[in-house]
Amino acid sequence: MSKGRVVLAYSGGLDTSVAVKWISEVHDLEVIALAVDVGQDEDFDVIRNRALAAGAVEAEVVDAKDEFASDFIVPAIFANAMYENKYPLVSSLSRPVIAKHLIAATKKYGAQIVAHGCTGKGNDQVRFEVSLRALRPDIEILAPVRTWGLSRADSIDYAARHSIPIMATKEKLYSIDQNLWGRAIEAGEMEDPWVKPPTGIYQTTVLSATEPSTVIISFESGVPTAIDGERMDLVPLISKLTQKVGSYGFGRIDMVENRRVGIKSREVYEAPAALALIMAHADLEDLTLERDLAHEKLRLSPRWTELVYDGLWYSPLKQSLDAFMTESQKFVTGEVRLSLEPGRVMVEGRRSPVGLYDYELATYDAADAFRHEDAEGFVRLWGLGVQTWSRKQLGSQ
Ligand code: ARG
Repeated sequence: MSKGRVVLAYSGGLDTSVAVKWISEVHDLEVIALAVDVGQDEDFDVIRNRALAAGAVEAEVVDAKDEFASDFIVPAIFANAMYENKYPLVSSLSRPVIAKHLIAATKKYGAQIVAHGCTGKGNDQVRFEVSLRALRPDIEILAPVRTWGLSRADSIDYAARHSIPIMATKEKLYSIDQNLWGRAIEAGEMEDPWVKPPTGIYQTTVLSATEPSTVIISFESGVPTAIDGERMDLVPLISKLTQKVGSYGFGRIDMVENRRVGIKSREVYEAPAALALIMAHADLEDLTLERDLAHEKLRLSPRWTELVYDGLWYSPLKQSLDAFMTESQKFVTGEVRLSLEPGRVMVEGRRSPVGLYDYELATYDAADAFRHEDAEGFVRLWGLGVQTWSRKQLGSQ
């Protein structure tokens, strides 16, 4: 009888490399290692070969960068998604696209099982498993890291015993997750929320620019389309912005975050492009969205963000909120100019061919077209309820 097959979400790191061998030995399964490129800037040839060296029967790398940008990051821009008002969902966005490719691979390779290398304490296990079951309800899931009880040193010894070519050292490293939208850095001395994050952890937000400058971001129906007038696809646009605003030391986040599994954790992120794009996009919405729509969107955005953070990318409420978000973006077209100074990025101008800012209504100059005479009756009726309340119930004269 042929062995069962499992598709493993493979990162090339210590845990998933050990997992390749562990799963084939302990569960007697054929392991197909799948690495999904969401812009984590790794050498995928090395990663692929490592999976094969660890005993995978197949090792595949899927380039999902364009899809990640257009189908996962763009909706997050539409929603101006910032979990707990601070974190632009970097890791939370990549899990559902990875899950999608894992399920596709189960079909391609005839596997019934998916495995991942997440621990039991994090959000990523939640996002993977909830997404996998939403996409393929009969899928079986293996999470060896959650149960194998290996310390970091044990895993390194295990890798050495089985000649798995890993790069890790026994010294505790940070837990880092990186994609096109940003970088998450956890653990080590940062587990004390009072301790300043070591400066060496940062990569994309190291200050190197010396002169102030500006950058103009164009949007069409909510989608970023150009930088300084140069049209670009999303992946190069986001990479260019990461480099540009990151060189001003902008884009760091240091926060205590509520995980789905009930833990508060200290999280450090760098996400220069995400913060700059959301800042610019939200500002363009101020110019182009009618007031009630803008206010309702401000109420629904945190809900959308929470669903995505909590692993419910593939869910009926999230789908319905997406329909609202997409409809709201119809007229979010125009340009926003950001001023860049060391350590600071701010909006300094915005314009739109379909903006709702009307100079003749807003001005105090001679061009004023506002009907001042309408204001008196409007304000009197607006306040009529409280005026009556004051007279009748407070007994005011
Ligand atoms: N706390 C963040 C989140 O839940 C970052 C997770 C980073 N993942 C990791 N495996 N290091 O989205």
